[in-house]
Amino acid sequence: TYEKLWLIAAMVLIVGFIATITYGSVGLGIAMVGDQQETVEPTELADDERFGEPRVEQIGDDEYEVYVVAQTFSFQPDPIEVPENSQVTFHVTARDVIHSFSLAGTNVNTMVIPGEVAEMTVEFDDPEVYGVVCNEYCGPDHHNMEGQVHVV
Ligand code: CUA
Repeated sequence: TYEKLWLIAAMVLIVGFIATITYGSVGLGIAMVGDQQETVEPTELADDERFGEPRVEQIGDDEYEVYVVAQTFSFQPDPIEVPENSQVTFHVTARDVIHSFSLAGTNVNTMVIPGEVAEMTVEFDDPEVYGVVCNEYCGPDHHNMEGQVHVV
């Protein structure tokens, strides 16, 4: 009967929908825990070759890596200086509590968790000064936690 057909059609749709959701979330999980995900213990920051000395490192003609440590209530290094027309990958970790690394007025925004390294690559075309702000409440001076990225 038609009723039965509709029931079967509805069930096929539901199964398909669940499969889509499951597939989607599995894909996302792989992306987040793949071998790109780096870690660093906050207690070992001082001896870490990436974060022991927060800095800007040139790795190609127009390519830079920036190692940033966020802590109450500042970012290191500060200011971060990179040239215009550059591709910059930020590696950011936190020394103490959860912070964020966010460039004001842009969609560059990542949560920074102790023990984990957040990474994002940004292309800077033109000279500009960007404010670095923290969007995660991290203590009494959270609202004063800021830094700068100078694109020169
Ligand atoms: Cu760091 Cu809010």
